[in-house]
Amino acid sequence: MMQSFYRDTWADIDLDAIRFNMKQMKERYPSPKKVYAVVKANAYGHGDVEVAQAALEAGADQLAVALLDEAVHLRKQFPEVPILILGRIRPEQAPVAAEHNLMVTIFQSEWVLKADQYLNEPLQVHLKIDTGMNRQGIKSADEAYALLTTMKSTSLVLKGVYSHLATADEDERLLLETQMTRFQQYITEFQDYFTEEVEVHLGNSAGAMRFPESMYDAVRFGIGMYGLYPSDLVRDETKIPLKPAFSLQSRLIHIKQIEPNETISYGTTYTAQEKEWIGTVPLGYGDGWIRKLQGFHVLVNGKKYPIVGRVCMDQFMVKLDQQFPVDTPVVIIGEQQGNVVTTDDVARHLETINYEIPCMINQRVPRVYHNVNK
Ligand SMILES: Cc1ncc(COP(=O)(O)O)c(C=O)c1O
Repeated sequence: MMQSFYRDTWADIDLDAIRFNMKQMKERYPSPKKVYAVVKANAYGHGDVEVAQAALEAGADQLAVALLDEAVHLRKQFPEVPILILGRIRPEQAPVAAEHNLMVTIFQSEWVLKADQYLNEPLQVHLKIDTGMNRQGIKSADEAYALLTTMKSTSLVLKGVYSHLATADEDERLLLETQMTRFQQYITEFQDYFTEEVEVHLGNSAGAMRFPESMYDAVRFGIGMYGLYPSDLVRDETKIPLKPAFSLQSRLIHIKQIEPNETISYGTTYTAQEKEWIGTVPLGYGDGWIRKLQGFHVLVNGKKYPIVGRVCMDQFMVKLDQQFPVDTPVVIIGEQQGNVVTTDDVARHLETINYEIPCMINQRVPRVYHNVNK
């Protein structure tokens, strides 16, 4: 593979893992049911075009993104694939969506009227119903009725209706069941509008993995496609095998021995107790490897070593137990000689969710794609 960058840190993206994970979902939702590959936020930091390509090869039927910009970018690569925008676009931008044959999420009657003034060709839309997430969507049957009747005399074409679950990954039943019941009530009440051609969809990864019988015509598969479980509960309950697609690699760029009482990095937050071997790794908060990762660990020669001293913008230091040569491989996320640091480990250290980790490693870290050709 031709290397198109010079730095010693990069993310490996295993496209076979994406294919494997997508196949898990497609086996559970065979045609005519549909699986959306959710590739918003540059495919959760993995690379939108590459992931979309691999997902489609493995049977994904459609793509979903958050932004009009993301959809337009993908449309250039995938002229025929249905693409749904999950976020709200501005009504004056409706013609851009129509021109690119994109599906848009709607939930405001005023939006429908406004967008129609700008449109001179049909625009495919999905109606979003807020069943309890309280983020976006219509909140009542009256609102649904108003919007659907307003739509009748416009260029908008109803292609789908959906809602989003707030707690499908949790051991929580009250809101989950409320959301599912409310959604079904809308589907029943508006069955004259939601005809055969209108796609009904509800589940994200957690919903799709845990409740396959309640997911209607399609599911929106995000985190699971990247080989990460929405939660430990989903992993343990479903036992669906997934393979992580993201790993983060580097090399030691410097190594030295420091004396007792010497300190490391800004602010002298770490003081050596004895003679210590210290390695320098070229990754820092300028790459998204934030200062809170001080105290976390990385793999060198298959063993975990702690990050000591403040993480800098471009580098951090690691305490080793022996001298290693410059250029020794460092695995920051991933497997090395049978030992592993997972995305979940990083998330746990940061008291956050695994979704955030590949997203936060920014574009300064090049992505290297493996198994590009099926
Ligand atoms: C509306 C909607 N559907 C589906 C997804 C995919 O969720 P997940 O990554 O949990 O599968 C998201 C992601 O946040 C979303 O906002």
